[in-house]
Amino acid sequence: MERATVIVAIDGPSGTGKSSTSKAVAAQLGLSYLDTGAQYRAITWWMVTNGIDIDDPSAIAAVAGKPEIISGTDPSAPTITVDGTDVAAAIRTQDVTSKVSAVSAVPEVRARITELQRSIAADAGNGIVVEGRDIGTTVLPDADLKIFLTASPEARAARRSGELKNADVQATREALLKRDAADSSRKTSPLAKADDAVEVDTSDLTLQQVIECVVTLVEEKRAGK
Ligand code: DC
Repeated sequence: MERATVIVAIDGPSGTGKSSTSKAVAAQLGLSYLDTGAQYRAITWWMVTNGIDIDDPSAIAAVAGKPEIISGTDPSAPTITVDGTDVAAAIRTQDVTSKVSAVSAVPEVRARITELQRSIAADAGNGIVVEGRDIGTTVLPDADLKIFLTASPEARAARRSGELKNADVQATREALLKRDAADSSRKTSPLAKADDAVEVDTSDLTLQQVIECVVTLVEEKRAGK
């Protein structure tokens, strides 16, 4: 396996600015970009669409290898398809969001998606920014730079509500915390900070400040190589 130039892992819970930061950093540095949450959402969408019982982990495990999930890794226009269907909008519905933690906790699902992620990272010629929950700990433990983004629950809920166009902040906060608790407590590769990750608290930073901070860290790593 040929080693790409630079591999950046960006993990953290939702609402920390992970996606916006990862995309902008990749675009600025000429790297590819992979949204691993979108892959878990895509496989969840396929399970729902095919009538698989989300409360039955063995039913999910039995078909985890079936859908073909393809991610386009251009940070200025990331894409995602399942068996050739563009699911970019369909994976953001409330229905998929409420079910993704259960599906992504199934070990067979994680094994399948992790393999996909590693092969995409290995093929990214210039290097790649990979965002998720377990990238630094499990998927790419040898990443050149690991970032763990955090923010207060209040800041995260406010950002997510804004994205969802005026959704109720209190309800968003509760849904976010519930999903984080599920993602952090699952047995297989939970949401966690790698020991060698740099933690950045984004609560009081603008998006531009977070982007600049991460770009600087990548450039320092590259210079030190
Ligand atoms: O980043 P997001 O909110 O789109 O992620 C959706 C879900 O996918 C999240 O609740 C947990 C799961 N996920 C995961 O288990 N591992 C990852 N590397 C990325 C996401």
